[in-house]
Amino acid sequence: MTESNDAVDDSRRAALLMTGVVGGAGCVAAAVPFVASLTPSERAKAAGAPVVADLSQLALGEKMTVEWRGKPVWVLRRTPEMLASLKKTEGEVADPASKRTAFPTPAYAMNEYRSIKPEYFIAIGICSHLGCNPLGPLAAGAAAPLGNDPGFLCPCHGSTFDVAGRVFKNKPAPDNLEVPPHKYLSDTVVLIGDDSKA
Ligand code: FES
Repeated sequence: MTESNDAVDDSRRAALLMTGVVGGAGCVAAAVPFVASLTPSERAKAAGAPVVADLSQLALGEKMTVEWRGKPVWVLRRTPEMLASLKKTEGEVADPASKRTAFPTPAYAMNEYRSIKPEYFIAIGICSHLGCNPLGPLAAGAAAPLGNDPGFLCPCHGSTFDVAGRVFKNKPAPDNLEVPPHKYLSDTVVLIGDDSKA
């Protein structure tokens, strides 16, 4: 369910591309038997329903993926180094304050971390260019297009994103990674797909 932020070397990256493996596939598969047992109307409701993610086992630097509305939603637990990197990348990304509106950022994530809690970055793992699944988090120096910044690399056309999902300048992706509606139910339990007030 989780991925480390170890440097991803060229051979591993190639293997990922060949197999189409993106983190969190196991979480998606586990939901299928439950959904199959529902009536059609129940299935339709379940398909759009919010999902609960338990972050209590997520280690620093790791990312987990859950499925919401058929999309992979990442939760990355950022290290202090990752958080510090956002100060540097602020001058390197195309839309540091998330003003673009192809994928509007919720008001509660309109900050330098693009998140409610700085430690946890929650985003939909789909590139805003043509919909590929970016790889990562990659460590600083792991992928040439990222230079010395940690972040995500979309292998399709080379868009790169920092660890707040902000697209770097002069890349094909027109917007930052989308932050889905969400809210915390406790310190380490988050509801994805619902940000309504109680
Ligand atoms: S789909 Fe990501 S760069 Fe084209």
